[in-house]
Amino acid sequence: MNDKKFYITTPIYYPSGRLHIGHAYCTVATDAMARYKRLCGYDVMFLTGTDEHGQKIEGKAKEAGVTPQQFVDDIVAAPGGVLDLWKLMNVSYNRFIRTTDGYHVEAIQKIFRAMYDKGDIYKGSYKGKYCTPCESFWTDSQLVDGKCPDCGRDVHDAEEEAYFFRASKYADRVRDLLLNTDFLEPRSRVNEMVNNFIDCEGGLQDLCVSRTSFTWGVPVDFDPGHVVYVWLDALFNYMTALGYQNDKYNDLEKFWPADVHFVGKEIVRFHAIYWPAFLMSMDLPLPKKVYGHGWLNFNGDKMSKSKGNVVDPHLLSERYGVDALRFFLLRTFPFGSDGNFTNELLIQTINVDLANDLGNLVSRTTAMAEKYFGGALPEAKESAELDQALIALASGLRERYEGQMEKFQFQNALEEVFKVIQRANKYIDENAPWALAKDMEANGGRLAQVLYNLLEAVRVCTVLLTPFMPASCGKIFAQIGAGPDAQTWDSAARWGVLPAKLSVAKGENLFPRIDMAKELAELDAIAEEAKKAALPALEIEPLTEEQVDFDTFCKSDFRAVKVKDCQNVKKSDKLLKFTLDDGTGTDRQILSGIAKWYKPEELIGKTLVAIVNLPPRKMMGQESQGMLISAVHTEKGEEVLHLLMVDDAIPAGAKLC
Ligand code: MSP
Repeated sequence: MNDKKFYITTPIYYPSGRLHIGHAYCTVATDAMARYKRLCGYDVMFLTGTDEHGQKIEGKAKEAGVTPQQFVDDIVAAPGGVLDLWKLMNVSYNRFIRTTDGYHVEAIQKIFRAMYDKGDIYKGSYKGKYCTPCESFWTDSQLVDGKCPDCGRDVHDAEEEAYFFRASKYADRVRDLLLNTDFLEPRSRVNEMVNNFIDCEGGLQDLCVSRTSFTWGVPVDFDPGHVVYVWLDALFNYMTALGYQNDKYNDLEKFWPADVHFVGKEIVRFHAIYWPAFLMSMDLPLPKKVYGHGWLNFNGDKMSKSKGNVVDPHLLSERYGVDALRFFLLRTFPFGSDGNFTNELLIQTINVDLANDLGNLVSRTTAMAEKYFGGALPEAKESAELDQALIALASGLRERYEGQMEKFQFQNALEEVFKVIQRANKYIDENAPWALAKDMEANGGRLAQVLYNLLEAVRVCTVLLTPFMPASCGKIFAQIGAGPDAQTWDSAARWGVLPAKLSVAKGENLFPRIDMAKELAELDAIAEEAKKAALPALEIEPLTEEQVDFDTFCKSDFRAVKVKDCQNVKKSDKLLKFTLDDGTGTDRQILSGIAKWYKPEELIGKTLVAIVNLPPRKMMGQESQGMLISAVHTEKGEEVLHLLMVDDAIPAGAKLC
């Protein structure tokens, strides 16, 4: 039996809309960690899921005209939904929990009742400021500039009869946990939690844990009308998914307490204060660690649907490959701090690290093995003095990498791997295999040795890159002829694992170089299209409320007019000049700003409608004697215009009334 166990979780996501790259960031990090631990020989439980209750979801479902259950089912399980996204991104979760799953709902009811029976949940009434999107009550002193301190949006006064959790009772224990243990990391987040929520004015407040203003939640079974607050419902997912208070699973003993909960910085408060307090109330062991990672912003701005800057992981995976995207997220941004996502950075990382450094190393090495030895490397000689720097760096890599991975410093772990990759590329230049190949008889043995060393360096790096880019690393192993024994954690700390007589086959180019300028232009065009697509399809100007009396209306003289000639007005890209037959026998000239929609020649001969008793006015130095009538609306944010054209049987000058 394996006694090395590792339990890791992501937050469970609100299925209130499509997930973006910010959500994928945490899940990919968790996946890399889970794969790394499996590689190290751990029995891993990786949990993710969806947090499906609450007022926000209820509201969204109502807007969409479906039930809340239909609404969440559509976002979670439908094609292109959350489950599909994790499949696409090669996320190797072991279990997926939905808080609407029956076993979880029943467990939450039992937990709520147990806390109530213990006296840690009591009934009171809540008066405060409520933020609907965050589903949080705030006191006046917690607001920032009168707005929600989490999301910065407006709050409103609210009062309701509610159940409260006696968080205050656990304040001292939670403070001690935060200040005197490694429970919360990075350590920089500890003071913020203690100062703002425990040692603040009034101390740690009891938490409102039921709602009566909506119904989409776990019902409090002993008090109809109340539903359990989403955060109490959601946090316990980490245990119900193992079988706590239910018979669906039986893994609690094996995996609880969790080794680490990865969470975004804005939900550290719930995980570092209330979650341990809930567990203390239930006399349950606490998770070993909560790690609060930073946020990914987009071009310096918070990712948000309303700002139209949400980056779609489906689109990026399709364009660059899932592995390149996974790699980019963890290679570029330090996990504990905020990062700024830009398309330039993404393309640059792919070009520099993957195409240039790793891709080149693999393709040059395998190509030379094919060219000089037909892919079958002869047994190599002893390594030479010149090889020692590379061998020493690669042999110590696993230890340095492990040190960083254990601290969740993915960026640093990858930096260590890339130092070896860059050293190996330098080793190619130092040894100039193409020069050795000129005299195979004299240098063939040395050439085989150089290539063997390169393949070993590639192998060690590939083992350690596997948690980040599982599919691509599988392909590299195949290209360099590394069998299962040469792919293990153990083998990554040893040199000379590849068999002496190796079979190498150069395969596809794994990371093609991207043309930055062309790609950026294409991405901009896609973003522009997406922005347009998000605009309302059709907008009609509201009807004018102010009434016009009949006599005034009758003063407007509308006539059928025939287009005798139509031309563009010089130096204007908007105006067309019409020569019209209005039935009087004298030509009428009208200028109209419709060049964007019509070419002059397509209008000649048409019968249009004009108002002919407007005072003449000058446009671009030419007189316009009236105005042509058109129908106007907005489509995808763009104005659309149609000239009013009538039956050609209507004679010029006929009055419209
Ligand atoms: N449902 C809660 C979590 C309950 S856990 C018991 C929730 N869901 S969420 O969908 O709003 O967010 C899920 C995670 O995505 C959070 O950890 C959040 O920090 C993370 N991110 C959302 N946008 C993000 C970025 N732009 N960048 C990085 N992570 C971000 O909160």
